[in-house]
Amino acid sequence: MLKSVKFGSGRMFEVTLVGVFEASGSGNPRLDQYTKAMDKDGAIGDALKRPECRGKAGELTEIIADTAKSTRRTLILGLGKKTGFCERSLHDLAAPIARYISRLGANSLAVEIGGATSSAKKDTYRAARALGEGLALMTFDTGEFKGKATTLAERPAVRVGSSDPEVADGLKVGLGLGASANLARRLSQTPPNICNPGWLAKEAKRIARTTENLSVRLIQGKQLEDEGLEGLINVGKASESPPVLIRIEYKPASRKRGLGPAVLVGKSMTYDSGGLSIKTGGFMRGMKRDMDGGAGVIGAMHAIATVIKPRRPVVALLASAENSISDEAYRPDDVITFRNGVTCEVTNTDAEGRLVLADALCWACDKEKPDYIVDAATLTGGVVTALGSTFAGMWCDDDKLRAKIERAAEASGERVWRLPLHQEYKDLMRSDIADILNSSAVRAAHPIQGAAFLAYFVKEGIPWCHLDIAGVHAHDGEKGPYAKGTSTGFGARLLADLLDQDA
Ligand code: BES
Ligand code: MN
Ligand code: ZN
Repeated sequence: MLKSVKFGSGRMFEVTLVGVFEASGSGNPRLDQYTKAMDKDGAIGDALKRPECRGKAGELTEIIADTAKSTRRTLILGLGKKTGFCERSLHDLAAPIARYISRLGANSLAVEIGGATSSAKKDTYRAARALGEGLALMTFDTGEFKGKATTLAERPAVRVGSSDPEVADGLKVGLGLGASANLARRLSQTPPNICNPGWLAKEAKRIARTTENLSVRLIQGKQLEDEGLEGLINVGKASESPPVLIRIEYKPASRKRGLGPAVLVGKSMTYDSGGLSIKTGGFMRGMKRDMDGGAGVIGAMHAIATVIKPRRPVVALLASAENSISDEAYRPDDVITFRNGVTCEVTNTDAEGRLVLADALCWACDKEKPDYIVDAATLTGGVVTALGSTFAGMWCDDDKLRAKIERAAEASGERVWRLPLHQEYKDLMRSDIADILNSSAVRAAHPIQGAAFLAYFVKEGIPWCHLDIAGVHAHDGEKGPYAKGTSTGFGARLLADLLDQDA
């Protein structure tokens, strides 16, 4: 759609964007006093009288300047009804704006929505930030794997700016967060014959090399054995591409006393065939994205280091493996002894995510002295049944951490919904021959079983939140600023906003 969107304060803008709300009764939208002051020649006021101009959300009305030489235009964006208007809606409204800019081939956009938002007593910064995120998401390159048989459409490089400092600040932050989410989306999109654990590790290193305050360490091969990371070893055994624990560290330029590390854990299965409990029918398709928890965490680390810059250290742990099949594959009936001494009977090799996450959670508790741990994982099909693609499942019994996550969800628009943890769910996971099993024979409370399993690997007293993102990490169709069939980069913005509370 767009090639790039960069903030820049040049003089001339080809397109100036203003916002209007739908009239409360019937009739045409009215111009707020601030935008009216900008409307020197009355052209916006006139355009609002056109019958097609209703101010409905996403509606665009174009005004072409009345001089033969000029290509300057004003674009009136409908914001919908004032009552119930939410700043976050600009995230989705970026899509029609980007399509318009792209069709026009314009290279500059002035965003002057502050009049409308302040007339509605809304937060202009928040609205501009959401718009910046959406515009950045519209620059995501869906053509990376197109070849000679496709002619790709031209994508304009766009400079955005504003005369309003609040809008400018919001746009800058939003563009940065959107760019970080796009990093996650690209990792997700990369096919599994390229994106294997080794490739993912290299990408993490490349991103860290070009980002200040990030560094990467890989735990692989013999080190996995030395550290007792048996989940990764077993799940990754059948693949030509060996498993790896990717540790990314953000060191704040100035650390605030009393703030210990936050640990972000990401399930990073570069392919999930199901293993010997092989996925049948259409269920294997799309499993290149079984690393989207890790991708979201990498995106968050990028946003943390480039935009948020919190004053606490942050450690990311990506448990990466490929769940494949060979004579060396782990099997149903195997028993795995984890680093913390918990033994697990494998009942289904397709419940692999929890096994690699168990390693990362043990590592986090033993080695990182975390203030809190958040994991993100495409863990269960059951969470898709429960919550669809509207909310991620959240399990968090620590009130303070949960409140922070919920605030971050509110700020980022990456929604979470709490589901319960309870001893009875943990009991569902007991095994006859080992301590626990990885997949219970009963389908009951399916997404909760995953969380209950993970709870065996978090030390008492360490605040922990599990996010099951299997329903929200990608969309089949087009949705807002997300092109058809692309990842949402879920977690990048949510976790960045979580750390923003420690900035
Ligand atoms: N990666 C899948 C979960 C998944 C399903 C992600 C759909 C995205 C979309 C996970 O490893 C898996 O296979 N889960 C099984 C667990 C079962 C075998 C206990 C599931 O949910 O069916
Ligand atoms: Mn699986
Ligand atoms: Zn999986």
